[in-house]
Amino acid sequence: MYTREQLTDLVNRAVSSLSFPEEAVKLFEPVIYVLGAGGKRLRPVIALMACNLFSDRIDDAVKPVAGLEIFHNFTLVHDDIMDQANVRRNSPTVHKKWSPNQAILSGDVMAFMANECLLEAPAPIAADVFRTFNKAAVEVCIGQQLDMDFERSLVISGEDYLRMIELKTAVLLGASCRIGAILGGADKKNADLLYEFGRNLGIAFQIQDDLLDLYGDEKLFGKAHGGDIVSNKKTFLYVKALELASGTQSRRLQELFSGVESDPAGKVKAVKELFDQMGIRQLTLEAANHYISSSFSFLDRVGVRKDRMEELIRFAESLIGREH
Ligand code: IPE
Ligand code: IPE
Ligand code: MG
Ligand code: MG
Ligand code: MG
Repeated sequence: MYTREQLTDLVNRAVSSLSFPEEAVKLFEPVIYVLGAGGKRLRPVIALMACNLFSDRIDDAVKPVAGLEIFHNFTLVHDDIMDQANVRRNSPTVHKKWSPNQAILSGDVMAFMANECLLEAPAPIAADVFRTFNKAAVEVCIGQQLDMDFERSLVISGEDYLRMIELKTAVLLGASCRIGAILGGADKKNADLLYEFGRNLGIAFQIQDDLLDLYGDEKLFGKAHGGDIVSNKKTFLYVKALELASGTQSRRLQELFSGVESDPAGKVKAVKELFDQMGIRQLTLEAANHYISSSFSFLDRVGVRKDRMEELIRFAESLIGREH
C-alpha cells in the first residue's frame, strides 16, 4: 500500500510537470503561482488512496486525479475574489497580487486544464469518471451561490447550512473518492459507498474549516483570522450559536451580522465573546467528529480487506484536530 507521503509526492510531481503554452505568459503566471504555493493536495491523495484500495497499480490514476487538484485550486482563486480574501497559504491571493480580472481568467483556464487531466482516464471508464466530476463541479457552483446568498440572510437553519457545505465542499471529496475507486476497478456499489464516505468526510472538513477561521493559528492556517465573521458568512459556528442563543444574545448576534462593519477587529472580538459564552468551539468539534464517524460507517461496508483501509482511515482521522 502507498503511504500518504508517497501519494502526495506523486501528485506534486504530476502537478509540477504540467506544461503551459508559451503564448500569453501572463495568463499562466498566476496558475503556476497557485499550483506551486503548497496546499495539502487532499482531494487527489484521497482519490489515490481509494484507488489503491482496489488496485496495487495506481500509475494511470495519477494524471486524472491531478485534475481534481487543479479544479480545486480554480475554485479557490474565484472563491477568494467572492470572499474578498487577501491571503491564502500565507501568500497574497491572485486577485490581490494581480487583479480581479486576471484572477477570473487564470481561474477559468485552470478549470479547462482540469478537464484535460481527467480525460486521461482509461477509455472504458472515462465517461463514468468525467460524469462524476462534472456533477460535483456543477454542485460546487450551486453551493457557492448559496454561500453568497446566505451572507444576506440572518436566519439560516442547520439544514440550510448543511446543504450549502455539502454542495460547496463535500461533494468534491465524495467525487474524488468515487473517481479514485473507479480508476482502481471498483464496482458501482463500492464506488458509491466511497462517494458517501468522502461526502461525510467533506462535511466534517468544512465544519473544521469554519472552526479554524476563528480559532485556528493564523500562520498555520494560512488565511486571515475571522474572515468569515467580517464578511457575514453563515458558518457552523453562527448557525449553532443562533440555535442556542437567548433572546438578548440572538438580537446581538444578528445585529453584529447585519451590514458592513466599520471596525472589523471589534466585530470579530464581539462575536467571539458570544460564541465563547455558548461553548460553540466544543460543539463545533463534536459536530465534525460526528460526521467523521458517519464517514466510517460507509467505509466499513466497502468490500475490501480491513488492512487495505489503514492509510485511508489514518488520513480521515488526521482531518480532525488539524490546524491547516
Ligand atoms: C480549502 O481547502 C477550501 C475548503 C473547501 C475549506 P483546503 O484546506 O483543502 O485547501 P488547500 O488546498 O490545502 O490550501
Ligand atoms: C470554500 O469555502 C469552498 C470552495 C472554495 C468551493 P471557504 O470560502 O470557507 O474556503 P476558504 O476558507 O476560503 O478556504
Ligand atoms: Mg467561500
Ligand atoms: Mg473563502
Ligand atoms: Mg473557510
